[in-house]
Amino acid sequence: MEKRKLGASDLKVSVIGFGAWGIGGHPFWTNEGDNKSVSAVQKAFDLGINFFDTAPVYGFGRSERLIAKALNKKRDKVILATKCGLRWEKESAGSIRKDSSANSIRFEIEESLKRLKTDFIDLYQVHWPDPNTSFRETMEELLKLKEEKKILTIGLSNFSKSQMEECLKYGEFISLQSMYNMLERDLEKDEIPFCKEKGIGIIPYSPLASGVLTGKYDKQTKFRDWRGKGILGHFSGEIYESHIDKVEKLKSFASNYGKKVYHLAINWLLAQEGISTAIVGAKKAVQVQDNQQATGWEISEEDMKNINELLAT
Ligand SMILES: NC(=O)c1ccc[n+]([C@@H]2O[C@H](COP(=O)([O-])OP(=O)(O)OC[C@H]3O[C@@H](n4cnc5c(N)ncnc54)[C@H](OP(=O)(O)O)[C@@H]3O)[C@@H](O)[C@H]2O)c1
Repeated sequence: MEKRKLGASDLKVSVIGFGAWGIGGHPFWTNEGDNKSVSAVQKAFDLGINFFDTAPVYGFGRSERLIAKALNKKRDKVILATKCGLRWEKESAGSIRKDSSANSIRFEIEESLKRLKTDFIDLYQVHWPDPNTSFRETMEELLKLKEEKKILTIGLSNFSKSQMEECLKYGEFISLQSMYNMLERDLEKDEIPFCKEKGIGIIPYSPLASGVLTGKYDKQTKFRDWRGKGILGHFSGEIYESHIDKVEKLKSFASNYGKKVYHLAINWLLAQEGISTAIVGAKKAVQVQDNQQATGWEISEEDMKNINELLAT
């Protein structure tokens, strides 16, 4: 599979990455059970995917443990990305809180290393900005972890342009992970130009708009998992309905290439300047295999123009 440099770093990531939120299951998603989750991760590795994005909070440790189980003897061949900065008191979504203090990061790194059964993390990302901790404190602690070789590189997630500017005063980071897909394009205004200028890699998350771009939902769908709770993205109301209208129209563009709309969505994303990898949230091997069809072809210039016009409406 094609690999791209993550920003100005030395990391070369596969253009399709494995997003391991879904396999974490409860309290956010319904997963397919541990055996199918492990098979999905192994299938990804077998198909040449080398970038695996997880987080402690994904299933309260489950996602990291499954990644470790699946990639057991392949540690030196993969790029493991995990996160810090979201803590929980008990295993319920309501108890999750932001904490990027030095003490908390110190606790979290040791827990992640144990769960991932490794002695270093390739890319360690601050999951969300913590309004109660200075960016100086967070960055200084991450730099210490880097010196200690517990992490190789630092990344940020869900940070705005001005928050990234502030962080750069106290340390370095190689990537920004934020929501970006055909339907959610806020990142294009400030963050993408900033990252391109500074050589910061862009890891778009929710490349399929957390499932909306698969084309399997309609205006009547009622989401019973986290998507029904208004946490991230749009899964009800006018914006959701307009997204569904667009997805229906995108299906005919996809069919020009004999593809499904989710192949088109991943292909489109990878065609945007500065994008390194699309971390698709697949939960079973068959999806991982299917998503391979998103690469190895190009959307024509004319279709790209028409698609972008449609997306701008
Ligand atoms: N940093 C952050 O704050 C943050 C936030 C969100 C996500 N992320 C990262 O981004 C990754 C992906 O984002 P995401 O989980 O929001 O969703 P996504 O990748 O946009 O979409 C995932 C959904 O797509 C469906 N899907 C995937 N491949 C499919 C296929 N071949 N056929 C049919 N359906 C398919 C799955 O459906 P089923 O449910 O039916 O299996 C799943 O619900 C996460 O795993 C995580 O690593 C990071």
